[in-house]
Amino acid sequence: MENELHKRDHTGVQDFVLLEDFTNPEAFVDNLRKRFTAKLIYTYIGPVLVSVNPYQNFDIYNEEYVQIYRNVNFYELPPHIFAIADAAYRSMRGENRNQCVLISGESGSGKTEASKKILQFIAASSHHMNDVEQVKDRLLQSNPLLEAFGNAKTNRNDNSSRFGKYMDIQFDFKGIPVGGHILNYLLEKSRVVHHSDGERNFHIFYQLIAGGTPLLLSKLKLTKDAENYHYLTQGKSVRVDALNDHKDFNHVKHALDVCDFNAKEQEALFAIVASVLHLGNVQFEENDDGPANIADFTPVEHISQLLGCPEGILQSALQNKTIEAKGEKLKSPLNKDQALYARDALAKGVYDRLFTWIVKKINDSLNSRRMKCGLMGLLDIYGFEIFGVNSFEQFCINYCNEKLQQLFIELTLKSEQEEYQREGIAWEPVEYFNNKIICDLVEAKPVGIIAIMDEECLRPGEPTDSTFLEKLNHNLGQHPHYISHSTDAAARKSIGRDEFRLLHFAGEVTYSIQGFLDKNNDLLFRDLKEAMSKTSNMITSQCFPAAELQNKKRPNTASTQFKTSLAQLMEILMSKEPSYVRCIKPNDYKRADQFDDRIVHHQVKYLGLMENLRVRRAGFAYRRPYEIFLNRYKSLCPDTWPHYRGSAKEGVEALVNHLQYSNDDYRLGKTKLFIRFPRVLFATEDAFQLRKHDLATIVQSRYRGFAQKKKFRTMKLAAIMLQSHWRRVAAQRLLKRRKLAAERIRGFIKGFIHRLEPECNDNKHFIQYTKYNYLIKLREQLPRNVLDKKWPSAPQLLKKTSQLLKDLCMRNHTLRYVKSITPGRKAQLEQKVVAESLFKGKKENYAGSVKEMFVDSRLESSHQNMVWSTFDTKVKQADEKVQYSAPVTKFDRHGYKSRKRVMVLTDKHLYLLDEKSYLLKDKVPYQQMTGVLTSSLSDGLFVITINMDENGSKEALNENLDSKGDLILHSDRVIEVVTKTIIHGKKSEAFRVISEASITHGISGGKKGCIEFTRGPTSAVKKAKNGNLCVIVAQ
Ligand SMILES: Nc1ncnc2c1ncn2[C@@H]1O[C@H](COP(=O)(O)OP(=O)(O)OP(=O)(O)O)[C@@H](O)[C@H]1O
Ligand SMILES: [Mg+2]
Repeated sequence: MENELHKRDHTGVQDFVLLEDFTNPEAFVDNLRKRFTAKLIYTYIGPVLVSVNPYQNFDIYNEEYVQIYRNVNFYELPPHIFAIADAAYRSMRGENRNQCVLISGESGSGKTEASKKILQFIAASSHHMNDVEQVKDRLLQSNPLLEAFGNAKTNRNDNSSRFGKYMDIQFDFKGIPVGGHILNYLLEKSRVVHHSDGERNFHIFYQLIAGGTPLLLSKLKLTKDAENYHYLTQGKSVRVDALNDHKDFNHVKHALDVCDFNAKEQEALFAIVASVLHLGNVQFEENDDGPANIADFTPVEHISQLLGCPEGILQSALQNKTIEAKGEKLKSPLNKDQALYARDALAKGVYDRLFTWIVKKINDSLNSRRMKCGLMGLLDIYGFEIFGVNSFEQFCINYCNEKLQQLFIELTLKSEQEEYQREGIAWEPVEYFNNKIICDLVEAKPVGIIAIMDEECLRPGEPTDSTFLEKLNHNLGQHPHYISHSTDAAARKSIGRDEFRLLHFAGEVTYSIQGFLDKNNDLLFRDLKEAMSKTSNMITSQCFPAAELQNKKRPNTASTQFKTSLAQLMEILMSKEPSYVRCIKPNDYKRADQFDDRIVHHQVKYLGLMENLRVRRAGFAYRRPYEIFLNRYKSLCPDTWPHYRGSAKEGVEALVNHLQYSNDDYRLGKTKLFIRFPRVLFATEDAFQLRKHDLATIVQSRYRGFAQKKKFRTMKLAAIMLQSHWRRVAAQRLLKRRKLAAERIRGFIKGFIHRLEPECNDNKHFIQYTKYNYLIKLREQLPRNVLDKKWPSAPQLLKKTSQLLKDLCMRNHTLRYVKSITPGRKAQLEQKVVAESLFKGKKENYAGSVKEMFVDSRLESSHQNMVWSTFDTKVKQADEKVQYSAPVTKFDRHGYKSRKRVMVLTDKHLYLLDEKSYLLKDKVPYQQMTGVLTSSLSDGLFVITINMDENGSKEALNENLDSKGDLILHSDRVIEVVTKTIIHGKKSEAFRVISEASITHGISGGKKGCIEFTRGPTSAVKKAKNGNLCVIVAQ
């Protein structure tokens, strides 16, 4: 594509600097014509772009072109408006210099289009991000919106800007547009009420009527026909072929939405537009006595409704004028002319303030809180113009163009040449026309046109436009750029008596003096202002604040305000790095493919393009102070990188030598380096861009190292901090634990000391602990069964509890044991219990008897059967039941002869049977038993004492048994035998253990015998020499 571009652009020269005959204007125009005919509308003069309006659309502004021209040095590609935009954008980003693009040329030369293309390029070439898209959209949409309200068809341009606009695009550090700000300059508001033949009012009026929906129009009380409105029909060209009002209205609606105008604001805005149209239709009839009356009240009613203004106030304000004299207010009625004047003044005032409000609103929507690092200004101001009748507005517009031309001259011709001389560069001065003289003619004090006009406006008496002209003639008659009917006889034919002519840089313009003072005064009657301040329409009420009425100070005149704002604009532009687009109109008929040499020649001349070319040819494309140049490019030379110790100039010298600049490429001035050709600079810049990657790598690595180190240090600090905190916490915890431990130990000792006292604070914990501890220990060491007698010894304070628990435990074991034993065993044990109660602790051989269970018979089984058979049949009574039998030894009461017997116990009697014959030897009913006696020693002897009274012996006699006294018996199982006897005989109370050494026993007939107990080497029972029975117990 790039090659194709180059192939396509081979007509003439792309840069006038390459023009051979560079001093010849014909050759200059010839080159423009050739290129224009070949559809090449752009040509450079060095960095300045000359653009010829093609009046037709070329497909050279699409996305593909944006991409081609992005980031390419502009001399590498054919000239294009995008190249200028890109160069300015890159300079802003690369060198951090705020930019402005100055677009100049006469009306219809394509300035507005050029500014739109630049904006389009900036928007399309920066990154796409959601929030940025919104800003870009608003920047782009501000154009159709402002054009609708501020542009109009004139005879020179179907879309002529009738206001000046300076737009700042704000960028962040990445070069992304993040906001914007618009300054507007002097709207040609007289167009609201009047326009010349073939011209139109501002677009918005026609657009609203053509594009508004029936509903909207009926709300606004408008009809669909523009012809019905006085303010729209004076030029007799309501319809313009090149414009599509209906479509444009939709664009405006869209733009309003994008730029954040809410529904209420839009409603208020269109109500004002409609009100202006209705105002134009307000007509007045003159009464016989002078004062004017409103002819038809309908339009006034509409306005009142639309603006929310009390109808009476509005009517009165349109027909009267309040004059304040000596503190008194007097209402004086207006005549018809005055009323029409007041009506128009109101229409102009309302529309003008509406326009300013719209700009403010757009600015609000473009206002961004993000950091702004760069600015790019776009200046699109109304172009120089000459109409059939030129008035105050043309005077201001052309003055503005003079100022711009002056700035251009200042920056490109004058200061440049002065700079060469100042810097000591060999230079042959180029002559040029300096329009400062015209600027001074307009703005100088006290004899400039504006100063005289202001003086005339403010002076007492009856100043009129004619007196003003007289003053001009008087003061400026001799000025070489001022001509009037009375001052120049030669020009009398072409200048009317009420006209004056200025020889502008761009041509002669004859101004009609009519209305100059009025427009400069810019008066709006107080009554009308007051009426507007009382409206409920949110815009008019804002634009006409009541406070304004209190302000007694006379506002500056229109021309002075304009002059001041232009001076501020010049300051803004001077503070930025400028780029230039010089627009040329190829013909006066808005026709494509028509190149009028004469017209173009004229523009080339007055724009000073030839001088511009001559300076460029002889001069230098680029200059920078040594410090700045060295600072930017020092990385390209080892001697200057990273620091150059000598002076900046020497450093730059070393640098250009290293870069091998040829002698003709550059000059060293006193403070600056001058580079003749852009290609040299661009080659240096390209080398720098490449070098930047290396530098970036170094910076990156250093930064990474630094960042890591910083991170490490931070982490180390953090770690130390954490450690120290942690140590403190740990130490605090340890201290706490130790304190607690010490307290516990102290408490424990105290508790131990007071352990035996009643529970109190001092021993509470100790006691609890002791209890707990003991119970835990006890749990581990509980006896396993009823015979397990071990029991952990209890601390003093738990002795009682321990005993209780022990009993409980034993009872529990016992219960369990008891539940587990059989009835037989239970009976046995019960007998054992009886034995225990009888003998335990009383008789020595009791302990030896414990382990052996009692049985029901101690006879051998064969023996036993025989005993029973005899006993059952012969001895025992039928209802008697044998309970126990055992072999015993019986000792006679006389002589103590021993005899083997079998003892049988039934439930009624004690029987003694012969051991061999089983014959009954003794039978003792239990009720006759009076006692059972044993010794306390370990012998087996026991005595059963028997009641020897009558009844007792009787029964014995009945049984044929002898009753010879107490029975002396011996058994090896004395414990068992005695216990059984006691149990079956139910004689527990009769049992006695004799601890004395002898027992006395009864013998029949009341006699007594004695049994002695002694200890000896072997156990024996024998009759002693003293006749007593001696029982010897082994020691
Ligand atoms: N680059 C272009 N390509 C196609 N048409 C163009 C171009 N530049 C300008 N035109 C045409 O010329 C007309 C006038 O251009 P523009 O409105 O930009 O002039 P201007 O210099 O802003 O005039 P004024 O000073 O009156 O505002 C445009 O409406 C458009 O039709
Ligand atoms: Mg314009």
